[in-house]
Amino acid sequence: PRIICVAGARPNYMKVKPVMDALERHGADVVLVHTGQHYDTSMNDVFFRDLGIRPPDRHLGAGSGSHAEQTGRVMAAFEPLLAELAPDAVVVVGDVNSTLACALVTAKAGPLLAHVEAGLRSRDWSMPEEVNRVATDRVSDYLLAPSADAAANLRAEGYREDQVHVVGNVMIDTLRANLERARSSDVLDRYGLTRGRYGLATLHRPANVDDPDALRGLLKALGRIGERCPLVLPVHPRAEQRLHAVGVPAGIRLVPPAGYLDFLALQDSARVVLTDSGGVQEETTALGVPCVTLRDNTERPVTVEEGTNVLAGTDPERITATVHRVLDDPPAPRCPALWDGRAGERIARVLLDGGTARTRPRPT
Ligand code: UD1
Ligand code: UDP
Repeated sequence: PRIICVAGARPNYMKVKPVMDALERHGADVVLVHTGQHYDTSMNDVFFRDLGIRPPDRHLGAGSGSHAEQTGRVMAAFEPLLAELAPDAVVVVGDVNSTLACALVTAKAGPLLAHVEAGLRSRDWSMPEEVNRVATDRVSDYLLAPSADAAANLRAEGYREDQVHVVGNVMIDTLRANLERARSSDVLDRYGLTRGRYGLATLHRPANVDDPDALRGLLKALGRIGERCPLVLPVHPRAEQRLHAVGVPAGIRLVPPAGYLDFLALQDSARVVLTDSGGVQEETTALGVPCVTLRDNTERPVTVEEGTNVLAGTDPERITATVHRVLDDPPAPRCPALWDGRAGERIARVLLDGGTARTRPRPT
């Protein structure tokens, strides 16, 4: 069978790689389509190099823009490509605009649609990702859930049992495959950091970085934490100008976005990670590194219930108190079921054993 795998933004590459590899091991004709949502070397090229992903077979060149512009450009470019390539199935991962755009086009064009990371719910409709997740799941044939809680969300929403597959976490496949290589990165030396003696921070959620007052509050908290434990913060392009406009306290060192192996090394050796990223909540849980999430909610509750993640919200006092508590008494490392490095393989089996567009019932 011919299967298109879609990627387009930073958190997609580490999810699509194990799926592509497993599908190809089983003899599928995999076509990698890059939407072009992210395009900077540090947000894109470095992941192809670090993860050994072959150059995309097709590139849609969508670039940045408003939600409607970006989603619309991906849709308009993907539709004729789908007609030309006539795949049996399309695999989309995660919750970015590229995911939703290709899902909507596929659902109307006919190939089967598989969503990797189905069923995650923050229940926070102010997040663009929540809209993308719910809408993508709704039009998908295969709902590939990373954990039991995600599958339970889908069942509660009334999806058919034969559509829902708990396959584990593909992002952790990639983490496990690359951890030894990451440990030989020289990034700590380059930044003058010592294992266990610094904190790692990332910020890019619109609710945290687009509003100057919200960003100021977060930086105030990070500044106080930096007095006890110096912080290194690889800056997402969305946040760059805004961070400089608001002003960054001493104790927080801004560095460019890190490549995959360097960022994994930075997480692995950190005393604590402060983040509003989705993927970083999962990676810290897999590594057993304490994570404090700078949001009021998470679509990945398994990282809190079974992992090292603590939700701190966005109030500066509460963040500071939470981080001090975590530094004094770090949560015990535990890893959720099926985050075992074999999720890509399970996905390939589901897709290749699952029947064709002609034989499989569509979503009800
Ligand atoms: C996107 C995803 C978000 C994900 C994040 C991961 C959506 C709605 N959001 O957010 O879920 O967590 O990626 O990193 O899909 N920019 C650059 N260079 C690039 C890419 C972006 O400078 O290579 C700048 C542009 O000014 C752009 C802005 O970043 O307007 C935002 O990029 P965009 O892809 O729209 O959203 P992200 O905030 O990156
Ligand atoms: N990541 C990275 N360099 C960075 C920040 C994140 O390589 O400077 C990786 C991180 O290890 C994880 C993925 O990017 O694999 C998470 O993506 P991001 O935080 O951009 O998006 P989200 O998961 O919030 O959608």
